[in-house]
Amino acid sequence: MANESVSIHGIWSSRWVFILAATGSAVGLGNIWKFPYMAGAYGGGAFVLVYLVCIALIGLPIMLAETVLGRRGRQSPVNTLRSLAVQSGASPRWSWAATMGMTAALLILSFYSVVAGWSLDYIIGMGRGEFAGIDGAGAGARFDSMTADPWRLTLWHTLFMLVTGYIIAKGVVAGLERSLRIMMPLLFVLLVVLLGYSLTTGYFMQGVQFLFHFDLSQARAGILAAMGHAFFTLSIGVGSIMVFGSYMPKKSSIGGTVLTVALLDTVVALTAGLALFPIVFAAGLEPSAGPGLMFVTLPIAFGNVMAGQVFGVIFFVLVAIAAWSSAISMLEPAVAFWIERSGKSRARITAVIASICWVVGLGSALSFNVLADAKFFVVDADGWRLFAWGAEGGKTFFDTVDYVTSRIMLPLGGLLFALFAGWVLGRDVFKAELGLKYPRLFPVVYWLLRYVAPVGVAIVFVTELYN
Ligand code: PFF
Repeated sequence: MANESVSIHGIWSSRWVFILAATGSAVGLGNIWKFPYMAGAYGGGAFVLVYLVCIALIGLPIMLAETVLGRRGRQSPVNTLRSLAVQSGASPRWSWAATMGMTAALLILSFYSVVAGWSLDYIIGMGRGEFAGIDGAGAGARFDSMTADPWRLTLWHTLFMLVTGYIIAKGVVAGLERSLRIMMPLLFVLLVVLLGYSLTTGYFMQGVQFLFHFDLSQARAGILAAMGHAFFTLSIGVGSIMVFGSYMPKKSSIGGTVLTVALLDTVVALTAGLALFPIVFAAGLEPSAGPGLMFVTLPIAFGNVMAGQVFGVIFFVLVAIAAWSSAISMLEPAVAFWIERSGKSRARITAVIASICWVVGLGSALSFNVLADAKFFVVDADGWRLFAWGAEGGKTFFDTVDYVTSRIMLPLGGLLFALFAGWVLGRDVFKAELGLKYPRLFPVVYWLLRYVAPVGVAIVFVTELYN
């Protein structure tokens, strides 16, 4: 089946649609919510520098590898790896890397849908003016009362998952391509509007300073965080980019296309930081709120600056769109795989897989209320336990799924994809598929793929496990 010029699932109308899809996958909660607060926490400019180096030396080669594999194999990631491995005379068990990635993507989707659901709740809350003149205690209480209500979280989680499933069920061109053609331009327009608003606050330079000031003393601690985040933000290691690569037209060059995606992702993360911090400063707040930045600090800020209600709604619509365009990329690898395997209709398969994700996601929604006392990986005076009800330390179900996927499955998947493309696929196949505009760069790219990226990932991975 491999080497066919089209996939049975469809083909993007142009390489631009691949750029839309891959950028849609990459740009998500990671850029708008995580990146700004991480940059703040780990010494601003120094962190940003390390992050950019990680994107260039580790993220980019792995993204290239996934795209090359996808387009070469023209099937779901699992079957792509299996058939390419067999063609290269290697073990078909390489496909297990993609099975793990596909599972990780579904697990990420299960809790991502819950958090994305919060942004839907906040769109309504902002629109109704609930945040006008609110203070820190009020915003904290509003967040807590939302997360304490299992029905409310389940409602938004359900809605988010339904829309995600609907887009996937419609198919590659009628569902994914069509929705991305609307979502992605809208996302960029909203971001630019927000940036424009930020420029009028009079605090823009303070935001720039916060994001780019150079604090080397904190940057060391941020190196690992920056590497880990490079993975999450580019959506690599799970097969999402691979499956989108399998729908890429044959003629387009992969090198320049993937570079564009990585650049766009980085630009969005930086722009989000530059747009949000001035608003926080304008409201007289400190941005050091950590993960609470998006749902507590920012709503206070929007509630206390001019026209904040309108821009608050715009902001949370932006977050929801970014999350949707990422969520669809988490569902597609598994749906494509089960279509190939069972031959059943896309709609039926999507309904089943999205329902399973939804059920697992309930565990995450309930982690904030009914199941708040269910703790995994507990280490306390009684020693180490996998599970303990009501223990002091440990991780909730939500934290556990986040941890296992982002810290273990994602880097491991990325490592295996890089090793497969660099050491199993064969130099000539990789080179031909990559189709670099400047062939003289090939040895550098290939060297990054074979040595630098795997060693980099291995270092992050081992250190993370050790910690
Ligand atoms: N890249 C997304 C973000 O930055 O929010 C997260 C993500 C999307 C992770 C798709 C994994 C994935 F398969």
